[in-house]
Formats: sequence, C-alpha cells, structure tokens
Amino acid sequence: MSVLLKVDNLKAAYGGIHALRGVSLQVEEGEIVSVLGANGAGKSTLLKCISGVMKRTAGTIEFDGKPISNKPHEIVEAGLVQVPEARQIFAKLTVVENLRIGVGNRKDTEQIKKDFDRVYTMFPRLKEREKQYGGLLSGGEQQMLAIARGIMARPKLMMFDEPSLGLAPVIVSQVFEAIKEINAEGTSIMLIEQNANKALKISDHAYIMQTGLVVRHGTGAELLADESLSATYLGD
Ligand SMILES: Nc1ncnc2c1ncn2[C@@H]1O[C@H](COP(=O)(O)OP(=O)(O)OP(=O)(O)O)[C@@H](O)[C@H]1O
Ligand SMILES: [Mg+2]
Repeated sequence: MSVLLKVDNLKAAYGGIHALRGVSLQVEEGEIVSVLGANGAGKSTLLKCISGVMKRTAGTIEFDGKPISNKPHEIVEAGLVQVPEARQIFAKLTVVENLRIGVGNRKDTEQIKKDFDRVYTMFPRLKEREKQYGGLLSGGEQQMLAIARGIMARPKLMMFDEPSLGLAPVIVSQVFEAIKEINAEGTSIMLIEQNANKALKISDHAYIMQTGLVVRHGTGAELLADESLSATYLGD
C-alpha cells in the first residue's frame, strides 16, 4: 500500500499558543486512521493545517506523493476534503444546492448523477428533505448533509472532525456506518473523535495526541486493548 498523506514535524500556533509542536503521522491508501486526544490537544488545528485553512509554522505535508498546496480549493481539487467540526453547511441553500456545492468543478456528469443516488441511498432523510433549507435541518440531518456534500466531491481522502458530536446514539451509529461504507468504496479516512472506543473499532491505525504532540500510535486493535489509555490521554 502506498502512503496517501504524510505529515512530518508539523507545527502551528495561535499567537503565543503552540497548538501543534511537531506532529508526524501518515495515512496509507485505503485506511481509516483515527486521531484521538483530550479537549485542546490540537486535533482540529491539525486538520485545519492539512486542509489549508490555517498556516503551519514548520513541517511538511505531502498528499498523493506531492507537497500539498497551501490553497484550500486546490487541496480539495487534489482530492482531500474535510467535513468540518461545525458542519458549515449553507443555511440559506437547500439540501440539493448544498450537495451541488460539493460537486465543485467535476465534469463527469454521469458519475455525478450516480453519486447523488448513492448519497440519497445512504441518507434517505436527505432525499426527503431535498428542497428544504439547510438551516432548517436538525443537527443530525445537518451532519448527514455535511458528510454527503463531502462524498459528492469524490475525494481520495476524507477528514472528519468529530462527526458524532451532539448526535443521538442511533444517529451516531448511522454516521459510523456511513464512514465505513465510504471507506469500503475506496476513500481513505482520517477521523477525529471523542468517542474513542467506537473510533478505534473501525480504525486500521490511530494516533493519540496530547498538548500538541503525538504521544502514542498503533493499530486500532492495539490501542483498544490498552486499558490505561482512556484515563491517561483521552480525558474520560
Ligand atoms: N482560534 C484560536 N485562537 C486561539 N487559540 C486557539 C484557537 N483555536 C484553538 N486554540 C487553542 O489551541 C489548542 C488546540 O486547540 P484545538 O481546537 O486544535 O484542540 P482539539 O484537540 O480539537 O480540542 P477539542 O477536542 O476540544 O475540539 C487549544 O489550547 C486551544 O485553546
Ligand atoms: Mg476540535
């Protein structure tokens, strides 16, 4: 398997706050990789640097064998899409209009039609609400829409920042099922989650962050078996 995303010695700061102090990690093609850690560990900052919305102060990021662009839209075009923490769907656009934004500059009309069918099969609720404004969807429905919009870009790598946050348990399970399905269809996944056990169960590899550094990594199964982890690093 080849390495799809390689992050090396990444540093980033908010003024004097050193949120990332030298993070290295990688995602191989086809993998689900989780990044876990307590509040404030730097997980969202890591994703923001990778997706180009925040500037790093040091380190390198390679995606698909090349240094990553520093322009967010070029990163999306290269096949890396982030489903952000706060969902950031467009409240004044309908469900289908939000999905069209995900399509971006794609020209493969036939495949785009199939992808609409695919996300509507994955999330029937979105089909029912096709003409409804994004802002009127429930929290869970907005999360489904954010994931579906990401899928419409046909990315090589999809990064999720706490997709289960604030959702009812049954919806959380649907979101995890969707992530597994997206992965099974060939998209690699980077997943940030507070729900450590659920994340580790579906992960090939996982990294644990603490105050801006990776402090542990291993396979999902290895970390799942380590009972000392949650008390020491995960803050629960
Ligand atoms: N916009 C900002 N301005 C200043 N400091 C920030 C900003 N965003 C994050 N930080 C700080 O950077 C550090 C890392 O934050 P980050 O949001 O990356 O953590 P996180 O691991 O995603 O936490 P959580 O699990 O709570 O989402 C924290 O100490 C946080 O207070
Ligand atoms: Mg965060």
